[in-house]
Amino acid sequence: MDSSSLVDLQPLARMALLGILIALGPLAWVWARTRGADRSRRRHALTLLTLFLTFDLVLFGAFTRLSDSGLGCPDWPGCYGSASPVGARESIRAAETALPSGPVTHAKAWIEMLHRYLATGVGVLIIAMTALAWQQWREQRRRAQRTPIHAAPFTSPWWATATLVWVCIQGAFGAFTVTLKLYPAIVTAHLLGGLALLVLLAVQAWGGRGEPVGVSPALRRGMVAVATLAGLQIALGAWVSTNYAVLACTDFPMCQGRWWPAMDFEQGFALLRPLGVGAGGGWLPFEALTAIHMAHRLGAAVLLAALAALAWRLSRRAALRRFAYGLVAIALWQLASGVSNVVLGWPLAAALGHTGGAAALVLLLTALMMRGVATEHTELDLVELERGRTEIKGAEARSRRPGAVPARGTL
Ligand code: HEM
Repeated sequence: MDSSSLVDLQPLARMALLGILIALGPLAWVWARTRGADRSRRRHALTLLTLFLTFDLVLFGAFTRLSDSGLGCPDWPGCYGSASPVGARESIRAAETALPSGPVTHAKAWIEMLHRYLATGVGVLIIAMTALAWQQWREQRRRAQRTPIHAAPFTSPWWATATLVWVCIQGAFGAFTVTLKLYPAIVTAHLLGGLALLVLLAVQAWGGRGEPVGVSPALRRGMVAVATLAGLQIALGAWVSTNYAVLACTDFPMCQGRWWPAMDFEQGFALLRPLGVGAGGGWLPFEALTAIHMAHRLGAAVLLAALAALAWRLSRRAALRRFAYGLVAIALWQLASGVSNVVLGWPLAAALGHTGGAAALVLLLTALMMRGVATEHTELDLVELERGRTEIKGAEARSRRPGAVPARGTL
């Protein structure tokens, strides 16, 4: 195949049809589960399911990269111009015979195409979500004109529209990942784009649900700082993966038997260069890979400390304690899976678990940011207020017990 035919749009219609067929299953399931329910419940169920499938898609994307299947089909959107590896079997066999351990084999072609099919299916579900969101918006507007009372919790349809635009951009990055031969900056952007898609879906799935919890401006700023650090750390992690820098250090906590090994940050963090290519056009030096690996470790130390501090602050508030437990669990999981990647020689389960942990962290921080809204009060006031409310509730519950003497202050 010459490079001029890397993007063959002919199979696009067939891929779109396949996407619709794949999406029909989840759509039928949502419609069956919400039969007789209003549009808002149906939209919520569809958003939750799309969020779940997108989480799986992020993991499957990591599996595609980890199994070296990213170039399993070297063109886009089809495989050697065909909508499935079945139609491309002759070309795949020829490539596999020429280079048995090369990037193209039957198994790798299937893994790559399954990732594309799942992504197309998610795209179709997002189109359905967007259509439902605008329908619901029109319905609510009509109802509000008739009875101008406060409508039920409702997320603006622009969120769904933004998600649709984003998934198209994400598809384009998927295409560039293949046609630009795993260019690290593009693959990194593709991973970050997948996580951003999770955030967009989570905002719609959880928006307007659950009682908001007032937090002091200082705690709110702490949440924003931790979310920013998490974003940076995830970008550093993606840079490790897409440059295949995982085995630059095979020991922990030291690297190559030293606390500060030889490192070349300038070449390691030159963002615009093809995979494995150094400044002068030769191979990327090992010191550059070491710098990439070590930057992620140092970032991890900072983020883990910040997560611990935020979890400690959250644990003092009963209404946010679950988030504190979640943050500690994910931090420990990231540490264990990250260290396993290094000392156990990069097992697939640890690498997938590490990606899953990062995606879970993104979701948990999104949920926390949506829940904790800033108020004028200090954290101490809010803790006291919450303690008072809990005590009143307890006293009320006790006084309702048969034969109980009413608690002081509840009469
Ligand atoms: C909360 C802290 C951490 C976060 C959020 C995080 C996040 C990430 C992310 C998003 C990736 C890219 C995954 C992918 O491309 O699919 C990654 C890769 C990696 N991380 Fe972390 N990480 C954390 C802590 C650690 C720690 C403590 C270590 C231990 C040294 C570590 C070692 C690695 C390694 C070796 C890779 C490359 C794995 C691969 O290429 O498959 N990480 N990390």
